[in-house]
Amino acid sequence: MNDLEQILIELKEKVEKINDLNELNNLKVEYLGKKGNISLLSSEIGKLQADEKKTFGAELNKVKTEATALLDEKRVFLENKKLEEKLKNEKIDISLPATTIPVGSPNILEKIIEEVEEVFMSMGYDVVDGPEVEEDRYNFELLNIPKGHPARDAQDTFYIKDEEILLRSQTSPVQVRTMLSKKGDEPIRMICPGKTYRRDDDDATHSHQFMQIEGLLVDKDISLSDLKGTFDTIAKSLFGEECKTRFRPSYYQFTEPSVETDISCFKCKGEGCNLCKNTGWITVSGAGMVHPNVLRNCGYDPSVWTGFAFGFGAERLAMLKYGINDIRTFYNTDLRELKDFDRKDFE
Ligand code: DAH
Repeated sequence: MNDLEQILIELKEKVEKINDLNELNNLKVEYLGKKGNISLLSSEIGKLQADEKKTFGAELNKVKTEATALLDEKRVFLENKKLEEKLKNEKIDISLPATTIPVGSPNILEKIIEEVEEVFMSMGYDVVDGPEVEEDRYNFELLNIPKGHPARDAQDTFYIKDEEILLRSQTSPVQVRTMLSKKGDEPIRMICPGKTYRRDDDDATHSHQFMQIEGLLVDKDISLSDLKGTFDTIAKSLFGEECKTRFRPSYYQFTEPSVETDISCFKCKGEGCNLCKNTGWITVSGAGMVHPNVLRNCGYDPSVWTGFAFGFGAERLAMLKYGINDIRTFYNTDLRELKDFDRKDFE
């Protein structure tokens, strides 16, 4: 009997000290488990006299019930405490300043290219790709610029291997590749945005690497007025409905006639300002009717097929549109500067 009382006192003390559910569980096993203190005492019953058995048995049951209640009570207490702590830790402090998550944004050059692509795709053009490491015959010869021709001088080229393999100095070789792939009997509408390279010294308006957006349309009965209409559409969608366009005569080996395409200055609306050097006009691309020699070189019969081609400088378009005055801005890695253009665009 004394043992039973003692056990209960001891258990009470231990339960009071416990602060952890695992420990409480261990304690339960220690006292009420199969080989626990209380269970071991029940095996003693057999050694007792009949009358003692009864009282001892009753007392044992009482102790068991009390011990169970003690442990259960503590368990509920510890579980509640744990829950409270969890809720306290998970409480959201709405007075804390928000964390700013830096997000990326498209490069301004990519954006202008995408814009141009959208307009041309809406007119049924495909966007195609071509290699940056190019063969001389695609970059020059088949474009009616034979070896030794002075027109090559204007495009100070990076040669990679002998005089045959080069870094393309223009995206015009993609015209050749596209025509050759169509075998001379399919109309073509394509644009090709891509990187080009020239041995220029970098300054505010020159970069040894820059981007062009080439365009080519080949079909039957195509005339310069189709080029004018197409150019008008793209200019209006990039620079606004009030934008006017004009052609000036020019010279390229692979087009005849050749033109420079101008847009009316969107800054001064044609009045004359520093952006348009007081002319009221800004040149944005070279263009022209595809030269019969080029059509022939690429498998198209010039008595059946005609076409026009054009080449925009992508940086120049972006510089005009976003008021950037140094081409190097596109190729430095100062995120602050690049982000700033992005912000301006959304303002
Ligand atoms: N390829 C020329 C250059 O880099 C630009 C150009 C002019 C492309 C006239 C054309 C074109 O397709 O018709 O200077």
